Amino acid sequence: KKVVLAYSGGLDTSIILKWLQTEYGCEVVTFTADLGQGEELEPARAKAEMLGIKPENIYIEDVREDFVANYVFPMFRANAVYEGLYLLGTSIARPLISKRLVEIAEATGADAVAHGATGKGNDQVRFELAAYALNPRIKVIAPWREWDLSSRTKLLEFAEQHQIPIAKNKRGEAPFSVDANLLHTSSEGRVLEDPGVMSPDYVYQRTDDPVTAPDEPEYIEIGFEKGDAVSINGEALSPATILTRLNELGKTHGIGRLDFVENRFVGMKSRGIYETPGGTILLEAHRGIEQITLDSGSGHLKDSIMPRYAELIYNGFWFSPEREALQALIDKTQEYVTGTVKLMLYKGAARTVARWSDYSLYSEAHVTFEDDAGAYDQKDAAGFINLNALRLKLIATRNAKVK
Ligand code: ARG
Ligand code: SIN
Repeated sequence: KKVVLAYSGGLDTSIILKWLQTEYGCEVVTFTADLGQGEELEPARAKAEMLGIKPENIYIEDVREDFVANYVFPMFRANAVYEGLYLLGTSIARPLISKRLVEIAEATGADAVAHGATGKGNDQVRFELAAYALNPRIKVIAPWREWDLSSRTKLLEFAEQHQIPIAKNKRGEAPFSVDANLLHTSSEGRVLEDPGVMSPDYVYQRTDDPVTAPDEPEYIEIGFEKGDAVSINGEALSPATILTRLNELGKTHGIGRLDFVENRFVGMKSRGIYETPGGTILLEAHRGIEQITLDSGSGHLKDSIMPRYAELIYNGFWFSPEREALQALIDKTQEYVTGTVKLMLYKGAARTVARWSDYSLYSEAHVTFEDDAGAYDQKDAAGFINLNALRLKLIATRNAKVK
């Protein structure tokens, strides 16, 4: 029996690794992905080796470009936001990890995959729906739902018994659960569990405090092609490089902080602190370029399906026919979403201040308050309003009668 484990190198997944070896007696293959979480990956290799994983069973991959080009950017074409606020930074990374787990299982002859998500959250659903969608025969092991290591104390005891190193701060006050990648960092649990209590400052890890951010605004230009960002200040850059640069700019100006209580798919509410510096800038910029390149029909249509699309991603249905169908619609609307947006970054906010495009639908000739030289006949508006008002007049007449 062989299982591919999504392995971060941290304490929890190291315990899971040992537990799979001792409890299931299976050969473990580890997969550690660089999603831009800002951690060295080589320590994960060393730790896996130390825990008895054969070198050929250790997979360590830089998937940052794949992540941004094939997951983050398609999602941003939709301006996807869950429950009005959450930019889905964790939700969008899970399908990629599952895809690689399933592929590595196929390559190594493993019949199962394993992950470190608890039985209370969204991540288990995302990992597993994606895995089953890609390989209906795959088995999934979710140790958090099976073992009796139900408290932090028991976990630490298990770690000590099996000589798994425990970093000092793991016993301390750090938030219980942090998930990070190029798009965001999320923190949940421990000091954040009471939503009526303000988060301590140290929870914020990758953005400077907007209160002490520079007093001078910074202006940047983001170039778009077919809905995807392709350049910053005129310099063509790869998807992951663009997000990395925007993260640096967002950090400096304290952009993208969120303190949020959300509805998990499993039914409970949870409170999290999110930091999405580059993503917050990118969302504003994308809406900026859509303002001049999208017509109202396709713009309002894609806006109306956006909450559904965001919910699908949140609930783990990235690899589903309905997400793909919505994606096809969204991608079709992006055909002419090409041009440049100028933004002002200042004290926690990114604001569009100018935008231009060769494909702009904006017609100054029509909209001008000055003489429009016959581009638009204002008399047409009278009939337009009369017919639109007809129904409203009939209703008002009926209502006056029945009162
Ligand atoms: N609540 C967020 C979501 O469902 C973040 C989850 C964070 N995951 C984690 N393992 N800390 O997308
Ligand atoms: C977890 O439960 O593993 C993290 C939180 C979540 O998945 O929603």
